[in-house]
Amino acid sequence: MSIDHLDLPQLCAARGTVHLPGSKSLSNRLLLLAALATGRTELGDLLLSDDTARMLAALRILGVGVEPGEGKALCITGVAGDFPVRAADLFLGNAGTAFRPLTAVLALARGDYCLSGVPRMHERPIGDLVDALRQLGAQINYQGVEGFPPLRIRPPMPCSNDVVQVRGDVSSQFLTGLLMALPLRGIETTVEVVGELISRPYIDITLASMARFGVEVRRDGWRRFTVPAGSAYRSPGLVQVEGDASSASYFLALGAIGGGPLRVEGIGPDSIQGDVRFADALSAMGARISAGAHWIEAAAPLVGRLRGIDLDCNHIPDAAMTLATTALFADGPTTLRHIASWRVKETDRIAAMATELRKLGASVEEGADYLRIDPPVGGLHAAAIDTYDDHRMAMACSLAALGTPLRINDPQTVAKTFPDYFARFAEVGQAVPVIAIDGTSASGKGTIAIRVAQALGWHYLDSGALYRLTALAARHAGTAWDDEDTVAAIAAGLDVEFGDHAIILAGEEVSDAIRSEEISVGASRVAALPAVRAALLFRQRAFRRSPGLVADGRDMGSVVFPDAMIKVFLTASAEMRAMRRHKQLIEKGMAASIADLLLDLRERDERDSQRSVAPMQQSADAELLDTTNHTIDSAVAQVLDWVSKGLQKR
Ligand code: DC
Repeated sequence: MSIDHLDLPQLCAARGTVHLPGSKSLSNRLLLLAALATGRTELGDLLLSDDTARMLAALRILGVGVEPGEGKALCITGVAGDFPVRAADLFLGNAGTAFRPLTAVLALARGDYCLSGVPRMHERPIGDLVDALRQLGAQINYQGVEGFPPLRIRPPMPCSNDVVQVRGDVSSQFLTGLLMALPLRGIETTVEVVGELISRPYIDITLASMARFGVEVRRDGWRRFTVPAGSAYRSPGLVQVEGDASSASYFLALGAIGGGPLRVEGIGPDSIQGDVRFADALSAMGARISAGAHWIEAAAPLVGRLRGIDLDCNHIPDAAMTLATTALFADGPTTLRHIASWRVKETDRIAAMATELRKLGASVEEGADYLRIDPPVGGLHAAAIDTYDDHRMAMACSLAALGTPLRINDPQTVAKTFPDYFARFAEVGQAVPVIAIDGTSASGKGTIAIRVAQALGWHYLDSGALYRLTALAARHAGTAWDDEDTVAAIAAGLDVEFGDHAIILAGEEVSDAIRSEEISVGASRVAALPAVRAALLFRQRAFRRSPGLVADGRDMGSVVFPDAMIKVFLTASAEMRAMRRHKQLIEKGMAASIADLLLDLRERDERDSQRSVAPMQQSADAELLDTTNHTIDSAVAQVLDWVSKGLQKR
């Protein structure tokens, strides 16, 4: 099932241990090399995600043997450089680490293949790789736009060229693909890199992976790479895949911002993955980093906040996205330079990141190949983050939860490299605590909730006020309370400010207006409409800010804050509630009859508890508090007692 959004509570701390999924870069390289090799390879801790699934599916279609191995390992039976299936259509989604090297390998193989992907893949340039392969006799045609996938590949023409030139300044994956394919030629071939080679650490991963499979590339600086004659891949048997260094960056940043210590397991400081250097960048920002052979740990500075930095990110292009959101928590601006390659990734990451950081309240300057981020003054804004079908946008932006409640749209995009990212995130992030006080109308919820919030110094949410405001705004707009779509749009766009003693709707003080009996009835009507409830959900969750929230309503514990630390269901006899409401109204100088109020209350209880969405009900994990015979003081004392026990357990 795809979910269209995920609401993250504000986190007050992050600590613990995360076992990392296998590296994406290593997994897809090792899969392809194992497929091309002679012999059988067992790959342990391989990443199982969308990108590796694309590679695996393609290899299976090409006739490579893939079977489960011990535990989570996969066994690949190689084809010794010659795919048995000579004609195939391969769909590779948005997996650049599958598309580029498969293009190179298949262009030097002996079949007739079509390679395509999702629309974004068809916007990602591949012309530089195709130009290089054509120098070696490859026959590749563009099926759509010149220079971009989809591609049709036919068997190469005989060709004895032993030098090939490839551009290195757009994507290092072109050089990677070419190098991995060259052993298929059998003759010594030298690659000359034209232009500055970007993302060099990824070339190190390529060379190290090829070496594991018996092919030693001779490297002359970062300009010339030679694959010797007679090179052929041989399986080394068992290969253990390191944890993903880019995936590690999110958790290290969480530890650095959220206190820590937060440990990632499966990777050490000597990793061949370039993104492991992200830890140095965090350290430059003032985070405390420690490490062992197979783990790295991050914690916040002992005193003060993280520092803003000015960094050339060429060596950590992917993990640099994590720095962009870490920068929101620094004491000054951060500038990330040399990141032009972001523009041709899953999305234009420079533009996307600038847009989302601005939603969170940061000032962002966007250049052709840099971003400068000034943290928001006065805290992060709650925002709904778009993820652009880009796993790293989703994961990098999730860090903002350390400063604000957050909505992540299309969160399942993380499946590209880290399918259970948000489950791991929830394990190490400590959410701001919530006390949910639900119950019947006029049971004293509001009074008790405010008193509890004051006693703790926490924020307070009167969720009923949002339904009341919606009813009032609908009335002002001349909209009927049962016109679901229009009322939901009104709810979504409410221009409301909650002051200490006043509620301002579109510039007008409405604290008393929303308490009239007429609007009480309207609130109960609009609250029964599912689209209205959905429209108000994130607005309510956005109240969950440090150090804590006391929320009162009907579905605080069941729907809005199901993970609330303490849930209370408050009620009192209908007669007692009618008397209390009567007293309140008389004190405010409003006329009222107890009999009418009793009737109204019963009708509202009925509607609130019978409606199909989020009906008022005592959830199994809620404490029942009947205030018929309680004073306010004793009810408040009871709730505070539950809270102190709840806080002790955290
Ligand atoms: O708590 P209150 O009386 O101010 O609530 C006004 C109306 O809004 C009430 O009829 C129930 C509805 N409501 C709701 O459905 N869900 C909430 N969380 C809060 C109030």
